[in-house]
Amino acid sequence: MKPTIAPYPHGRFRRARQSEAIRGLVRENTLTVDDLIWPVFVRDGEGIEEPVPSMPGVVRRSVDLIAKAAAEAQAMGIPAICLFPYTDPSLKTQDCAEAWNPDNLSNRAIRAIKQAAPEIAVMTDVALDPYNINGHDGYVVDGKIVNDETVEALVKMTLAQAEAGADIIGPSDMMDGRIGAMRQALEAAGHHDVMILSYAAKYASAFYGPFRDAVGASGALTGDKKTYQMEPGNSNEALRLIQRDLTEGADMVMIKPGMPYLDICRRVKDTFGAPTYAYQVSGEYAMIQAAAQNGWIDGEKVMLESLLAFKRAGCDGILTYFAPRVAKLLQG
Ligand code: PBG
Repeated sequence: MKPTIAPYPHGRFRRARQSEAIRGLVRENTLTVDDLIWPVFVRDGEGIEEPVPSMPGVVRRSVDLIAKAAAEAQAMGIPAICLFPYTDPSLKTQDCAEAWNPDNLSNRAIRAIKQAAPEIAVMTDVALDPYNINGHDGYVVDGKIVNDETVEALVKMTLAQAEAGADIIGPSDMMDGRIGAMRQALEAAGHHDVMILSYAAKYASAFYGPFRDAVGASGALTGDKKTYQMEPGNSNEALRLIQRDLTEGADMVMIKPGMPYLDICRRVKDTFGAPTYAYQVSGEYAMIQAAAQNGWIDGEKVMLESLLAFKRAGCDGILTYFAPRVAKLLQG
């Protein structure tokens, strides 16, 4: 490597760290409100805001309050909100038909947000787990998660979400072939502008625990998701999955979880240069909140540093439960 700084004592790296002004001037990466996608939990009822115990600071909101929260997020400049439904156990079935009910909780929330906050982009989740009696993202037949039948169901779910007004479809199921099938169906139905943000490299992670509480899937889930979510030891496989999903028609790709997988983010960004996102998942959020509540870390500083790290790793944006708090801080 050619020297890019004169040898000591003429060259001193500390000169560039001497004040906030100089540090700001030489900073390579910054976090802005444009980088945020806010995941939210929706439940039925009216005027309800109920805390999620394993995610301090996160609530499940009824549709009316989701619409209000989306309007506030829009006012703060948050570009996108991502919906996850807490489905009543009585609506969970073997065939998961509630998933493509045009009037299910998630689709009602999309319409309510579009009315209250027309400028914020609405992202959805495509997977069967909120509607499945056994908590899996795909159909279970004789103890196995079946791929192709699941993809057919996911396509119906996608079309119902697009009809309701979703801007960005977020398949989080990890079935093979779903991106191509969804893209084809969207095109055929005239939804040319609906984007797909593929959860392309989604690992079988223990960091999703608090989320499964939040959507009420923990009790339902039988077994684990290792036959469809990725093996945490793999890195090359992530690149092959991202390439496959981009080829099938994904507009944007996601790596999930976030902080433990920043090496994957960097490889993906460097290899494809596509719009790349990471999901700072529930367990990552819970760890930061728990340590902060105990006074063991400075929660605000750790939050900002953790999110900046995603930018440094090459991400264009981050799905984070911290989104409104960060947006408020960045607004000053
Ligand atoms: C399920 C889904 C999960 C998350 C988003 N969509 C959990 C899972 O795969 O079991 C996790 C998000 C989080 O932990 O914050 N389709």
